[in-house]
Amino acid sequence: MYSEKVMDHFMNPRNVGEIENADGVGEVGNAKCGDIMKMYLKIENNVIVDAKFKTFGCGAAVATSSMATEMVIGKTVDEALQITNKAVAEALDGLPPVKMHCSNLAEEAIKAAIDDYMCKNGLSSGDGKGNACSRRCDDIHHHENEED
Ligand code: FES
Repeated sequence: MYSEKVMDHFMNPRNVGEIENADGVGEVGNAKCGDIMKMYLKIENNVIVDAKFKTFGCGAAVATSSMATEMVIGKTVDEALQITNKAVAEALDGLPPVKMHCSNLAEEAIKAAIDDYMCKNGLSSGDGKGNACSRRCDDIHHHENEED
């Protein structure tokens, strides 16, 4: 039922963990099952140089987040924003239809982490869907003030 690539990324997930002082952090939940994923990105000169994740979720969520981190490393922020859950699933040679929703976590966690990065750097004032990241911006400004 699962492709070899899915099994491989599930058994040996890449880039599991946290990045200290990550430039962008995104945490998303899957409304369908309640599973959670947290994505950490290190971004230099607009290029994602490192990515790590933690998933409290099913095997397909682990495999898709693992693949998603591999896909974003080396990409620019704009390129990474183009990555869809379908692209992640295709890179894993597909997912069973009932598990496609699990790959949403990967796409959304990347977007949330990039949104966080853009917000921190004054590149965005929201996610473009009317959900301003003002809360995170406030946190960040607070944080910056502490550093100043
Ligand atoms: Fe929740 Fe797969 S069942 S992410």
